[in-house]
Amino acid sequence: MAVLPRFFSWSSVTSLLLAFTCALRCVESGKPSNVILILTDDQDVEMGGMAESEISLEEHEDGSALLCCSETPMKRTKELIGDAGVTFSSAFASTPLCCPSRSSIFTGRYPHNHLVRNNSISGNCSSPSWQKDSEPLAFPVYLNKLHYQTFYSGKYLNQYGSKDAGGAAHVPPGWDQWYALVGNSQYYNYTLSVNGKEEQHGDDYQKDYLTDLVLNRSLHFLDELSPSHPFFMMLSPPSPHSPWISAPQTSTGYCGNPSIQCQIPPLITSTTLSGKGGFDSQYILKWQTLLSVDDLVEKLINKLEAMKELNNTYIFYTSDHGYHTGQFSLPIDKRQLYEFDIRVPLLVRGPGIKPKQTLQSPVMNIDLALTILDIAGVNLSTVNMDGQSFLPQMAPTLRNGTERPFFLVEYTGEGYSQEDPSCPKLGPGLAHCFPDCVCEDAFNNTYACVRTLKDANLQYCEFADNEAFVEMYNLTADPHQLENIVKRVDPTLLQIMNQRLIKLQSCAGEDCRKIR
Ligand SMILES: *[C@@H]1O[C@H](CO)[C@@H](O)[C@H](O)[C@H]1NC(C)=O
Ligand SMILES: *[C@@H]1O[C@H](CO)[C@@H](O)[C@H](O)[C@H]1NC(C)=O
Ligand SMILES: *[C@@H]1O[C@H](CO)[C@@H](O)[C@H](O)[C@H]1NC(C)=O
Ligand SMILES: *[C@@H]1O[C@H](CO)[C@@H](O)[C@H](O)[C@H]1NC(C)=O
Ligand SMILES: *[C@@H]1O[C@H](CO)[C@@H](O)[C@H](O)[C@H]1NC(C)=O
Ligand SMILES: *[C@@H]1O[C@H](CO)[C@@H](O)[C@H](O)[C@H]1NC(C)=O
Ligand SMILES: *[C@@H]1O[C@H](CO)[C@@H](O)[C@H](O)[C@H]1NC(C)=O
Ligand SMILES: *[C@@H]1O[C@H](CO)[C@@H](O)[C@H](O)[C@H]1NC(C)=O
Ligand SMILES: *[C@@H]1O[C@H](CO)[C@@H](O)[C@H](O)[C@H]1NC(C)=O
Repeated sequence: MAVLPRFFSWSSVTSLLLAFTCALRCVESGKPSNVILILTDDQDVEMGGMAESEISLEEHEDGSALLCCSETPMKRTKELIGDAGVTFSSAFASTPLCCPSRSSIFTGRYPHNHLVRNNSISGNCSSPSWQKDSEPLAFPVYLNKLHYQTFYSGKYLNQYGSKDAGGAAHVPPGWDQWYALVGNSQYYNYTLSVNGKEEQHGDDYQKDYLTDLVLNRSLHFLDELSPSHPFFMMLSPPSPHSPWISAPQTSTGYCGNPSIQCQIPPLITSTTLSGKGGFDSQYILKWQTLLSVDDLVEKLINKLEAMKELNNTYIFYTSDHGYHTGQFSLPIDKRQLYEFDIRVPLLVRGPGIKPKQTLQSPVMNIDLALTILDIAGVNLSTVNMDGQSFLPQMAPTLRNGTERPFFLVEYTGEGYSQEDPSCPKLGPGLAHCFPDCVCEDAFNNTYACVRTLKDANLQYCEFADNEAFVEMYNLTADPHQLENIVKRVDPTLLQIMNQRLIKLQSCAGEDCRKIR
């Protein structure tokens, strides 16, 4: 208590809470730890976006070849966050779509509880209902009550700032400094809400490049901090979301695509694969936009070090969901139940986290809020969220806790019933077709999956279509999900998985953690 100078002006309850947290984690500085969350957009982990290994040449029977890449984009991030702390190798999104997934991050809730279904206002993306019912319960509100100084910059929710959602004047509760992008990811020519006031940006790299601006505003915030209170910052750069405009100095770089495409070569022509605008070139563009994020991470960490705050700061690095570029001959998108879309990178460093750890514990986007509140010293039994803190997994000297046995991934399909005009022969229900009519199924693709990881690595998914289609994968035997085993697996096991799924789909709060 003796080392807590200014906290005594706060309410006695708050001081006690902080004193308790400090006893655990901030002996030296006498201040609760700072937290930073860096959230990228559409960054897959399956195709090497975070990897460091060199990728070699692959030649295919149809004559196409994939060139090697000696560099992957996130080298410094891996070194400065992953190697300095923990890399989670089993981190998942509760749903593989931007707005619903981000809504899960803010609320710590599954989509069936926050009710954000898609990227439209009618699907509750940043809608008036969301603003009324969910934003007041989002985690920054709790942090702000504990006198954390809070800062947001970058993309928020896809419909943020639109007229029907209160425009740029709407600033969600809990944020002291708010620099949020109006609308979906852009690099140039965008509008920012600066604490509720519109700020227009053009396309001058020095003044407007959004990833750099997200960093610059955060550095400015750090300069203006009151040193007596901890801070929380969330940085949400547009990279590597389309339209894939990289910084001028990074626009030459990778030589080819380290992809696992062409699993079924006859379905994809070499034009779609390696032609202009094909998968390879798009993947390279994606990677190039990540180089600016790698810069952001390095500059931010250098700044914290100069301020002597680095050793009292937790830094989380993750993405809203994964992405595919040709796997299963699916073109370029997310929204699918497979590993490439639901797995995300997750790296964390901070006090009490031993360096160079790789953990297999299953963790989810709905856990970020509770983990951050746990770090801040909030009594988690007073918070009604579906996730669970993974502080015990990262820092067992600070907390004890058990892993979840299984979890839910759920997605509400967008129900496209029209034909894609470029591929009329294929009939209705397809989207994002490539020239050789490689398309995404976008009709009856509402699904829910239960995923187990602890004792068995299984995925069981039910589609809400008129076939009641079921997919089940044994990822131990079949890590690439090539064989649906539903027809030959023990029916008792199917029944168990079905029962778990039903319970998870209607669970709320603490009960989501208790289902066995
Ligand atoms: C953090 O580092 C500074 C010097 O850079 C040191 O004075 C301080 O004791 C350290 N705090 C902790 C909690 O390790
Ligand atoms: C989003 O969800 C709403 C409500 O279910 C639906 O009306 C709307 O069509 C959906 N939007 C898209 C693009 O699918
Ligand atoms: C949007 O959220 C509100 C509650 O905030 C809910 O009543 C409504 O049904 C949701 N809309 C959809 C399409 O789920
Ligand atoms: C930004 O907008 C201007 C004016 O409409 C346009 O000329 C320019 O090409 C746009 N830049 C980008 C990168 O889209
Ligand atoms: C960010 O700050 C750097 C260093 O001051 C400056 O060179 C750059 O132009 C700034 N970029 C943006 C987009 O503000
Ligand atoms: C946390 O909150 C619960 C429910 O209000 C209460 O029973 C418990 O005593 C609190 N724990 C601490 C450590 O304050
Ligand atoms: C975790 O549990 C062990 C054994 O029950 C106990 O010795 C240890 O103090 C606990 N650690 C924390 C941080 O509570
Ligand atoms: C899609 O699902 C709806 C009900 O959810 C059903 O009426 C319709 O027949 C289904 N269509 C296909 C092609 O499965
Ligand atoms: C999954 O595969 C592993 C390894 O082949 C096997 O031991 C296990 O029995 C399989 N589980 C199921 C449910 O098929």
